[in-house]
Amino acid sequence: MMAPKKFKNPRAQHGFKGRTCSISAVGSYLPSRVLTNYDLQKLVDTSDEWITTRTGIKERRLAAEEECTSDMGARAAERALKKAGLTADQIDLIIVATITPDMPFPNTACLVQEKIGAHRAAAFDIEAACSGFIYALEIGQQFIMTHTYDTVLVIGAEKLSAITDWTDRNTCVLFGDGAGAAILQHRPNAHGLLTACMGADGAKADLIRMPAGGCRLPASADSVNSRLHYLHMEGKETFKNAVTAMVTAGQEALRRCDLDVSQIKCVIPHQANRRIIDAVGERLGVTPGQMFMNLDRYGNTSAASVAIALDEAVESGRVQRGDLVLMVVFGSGLTWAAAVIEW
Ligand code: ACO
Repeated sequence: MMAPKKFKNPRAQHGFKGRTCSISAVGSYLPSRVLTNYDLQKLVDTSDEWITTRTGIKERRLAAEEECTSDMGARAAERALKKAGLTADQIDLIIVATITPDMPFPNTACLVQEKIGAHRAAAFDIEAACSGFIYALEIGQQFIMTHTYDTVLVIGAEKLSAITDWTDRNTCVLFGDGAGAAILQHRPNAHGLLTACMGADGAKADLIRMPAGGCRLPASADSVNSRLHYLHMEGKETFKNAVTAMVTAGQEALRRCDLDVSQIKCVIPHQANRRIIDAVGERLGVTPGQMFMNLDRYGNTSAASVAIALDEAVESGRVQRGDLVLMVVFGSGLTWAAAVIEW
């Protein structure tokens, strides 16, 4: 039996003059090609048993060769727009969170703008790795609360297969491709994103990174031969930091809203590793029935992860209008974030 819903909306305390921001709709897109753990056994020295017990992942989706992050983001956006009953020309701003832009510049949001025909919209990318979607939601919400824009499209999209070293068993079993999108709108008397707590620790920037391709180490024959254009990760250290950061951020988000975790209908964590999710759930006091997981089917899709999961939670009826949702994420940077949403 859920406790009666009483909570505080921290935004309401800050004099936004009746301005509210709701998530009108979400949408997602997963490419059709499936790569199973058994397929990976043919590529590297691994096993379905190792991947399943260490991560919980059984399969992941891979984009087609010519399919880019902007294509997947555009498909997810079109689905969200359809559910919201909006057309692309009603969008004021597009924010894309990604670590796998189609190219270093122009930004992927501009490419999405053209693909969906959102010609009135301003467009930019943000990069906070697996934390990117919540960072982007919070940024989008700020534009709405300050009366700058009425309709913001937020996308988390990744083609991680393009930066995955398919000879490295430590990382290639973990990641997948996909996209999720959310439409933020000013809606009288709606709540939407009640709070978002974000954090970062640049001292641990080396834990997850793509070392080359930026100005520090521009692309060269050496950087390519040394496989420096792929994602590199210190798995064990990342694991420990992920649990601590997600728990701390989750607790802070609940505290800001005067919520007990039992009042949350659905907890949507970054879908990186089942063991991380179990440890976070245990420390936050989340029951298995509250926790949402789809990493068995998609692996870690970085900035797309919780966006896809939220869409699936809504589509499956796990989350219904008025329910409270806690999202907790963690990624390269290091970055982390937690958000409470009244759906
Ligand atoms: N198949 C078989 N064996 C493997 C594989 C594999 N795919 N990968 C690693 N191993 C081996 C290692 O070589 C090691 O062997 P050794 O003991 O002989 O050296 C052994 O398994 C144990 O390796 P660990 O790294 O200790 O394994 P661990 O239990 O830590 O699991 C994992 C590794 C899954 C990567 C885990 O540490 C993890 O999930 N880390 C967090 C990842 C994460 O959350 N990332 C989020 C951010 S990603 C982003 O921002 C883009």
